[in-house]
Amino acid sequence: MIKPDLIAGQSVLVTGAAGCIGVWALKILAELGAKPIAYDLHDNRERLALIDDGYENYVWETGDITDYTALDNLIKAHDVKAIIHLAALQAPFCKADPLDSVQVNVVGSTNVFEAARQNGITQISYASSIAAQAMGDNDWLATLYGAHKIYGEQMAAVYWQDWQIPSVGIRPSIVYGPGRDQGMSAAPTIAMLAAFADKPYQIPFTGPVSYLHAEDAAARFVAAITMRHENALVFDLDGTPAEIEDVMSIIIERYPNAQISASGAAMPFPADANNGYLNDYLGLAECRTLVDGIDDSFEIFAAAKSRNTLTDEMVVRLIEKN
Ligand SMILES: NC(=O)c1ccc[n+]([C@@H]2O[C@H](COP(=O)([O-])OP(=O)(O)OC[C@H]3O[C@@H](n4cnc5c(N)ncnc54)[C@H](O)[C@@H]3O)[C@@H](O)[C@H]2O)c1
Repeated sequence: MIKPDLIAGQSVLVTGAAGCIGVWALKILAELGAKPIAYDLHDNRERLALIDDGYENYVWETGDITDYTALDNLIKAHDVKAIIHLAALQAPFCKADPLDSVQVNVVGSTNVFEAARQNGITQISYASSIAAQAMGDNDWLATLYGAHKIYGEQMAAVYWQDWQIPSVGIRPSIVYGPGRDQGMSAAPTIAMLAAFADKPYQIPFTGPVSYLHAEDAAARFVAAITMRHENALVFDLDGTPAEIEDVMSIIIERYPNAQISASGAAMPFPADANNGYLNDYLGLAECRTLVDGIDDSFEIFAAAKSRNTLTDEMVVRLIEKN
């Protein structure tokens, strides 16, 4: 269980708040009695509206993490006490635009840490990635995105060494569930949406990956800023390893007429089981099982559909995007 004492009533900045993990972090923070400050390039609450019927009530600031002054002003204006740094461009976007992505992932992350240092903020969690595990001497796919994430981890270590700014870096595996709709591995969630909305969809990869529900991922970023730390820590956060056929079978058990299939090469990242180290450190129970995570996703889709914040038009758009 997350103990909210350190953040109750306090402003917590969430960068990349409109994203898949970001919206869940906002919701959990609000439920814990903190004051989440959403920060993103745009005020697009489509993912938030999918998971939270109170989506209009959040404090939302638009801005760019590559703009240090804007970040610094925002932190001062809201008296921010803790930061969950999630804003990033994912692997395909980095490959498509190496120069822009280094601005966001490398310069932007440095801005976040420097703004924390200048404002005396010592409760920081930030997203690294399984793509960082894949860098180096192994058979996995090296990516610019993974290189940016390694930079973030190394930078965080220096912010601790030189200025005693502690942090918790988390390397999520393949995130799925409501809100996941872009990046290399969004397809299993799009398949769930397609089955739910009775639309055809082909997952463009096969093989095993380690499935981590978006809410479980977000809960760990939140839990990390509710504690004091004495180092720059980095943890892997894997979920449940499963073959794509297993995921499709669970979906088809719930929706026997689902028109979903999979083809293509295996995902080029490790598919490990959760090692439990982060959960032990944060004092949290295990992440949910894949079966529970898929059932929970369908439950949230149904609630969103009944509120009209999940429509056929959205599903078709997300299928086309992925
Ligand atoms: N989804 C996954 O499977 C996964 C796995 C491992 C790590 N991660 C990491 O977790 C974090 C969150 O992932 P996600 O799935 O929520 O990503 P996402 O792509 O859904 O959301 C990222 C958000 O960051 C915002 N953003 C991009 N550039 C920005 C900028 N310059 N300034 C402000 N905001 C900006 C985007 O608008 C978007 O809303 C990222 O750092 C990602 O690299 C995600």
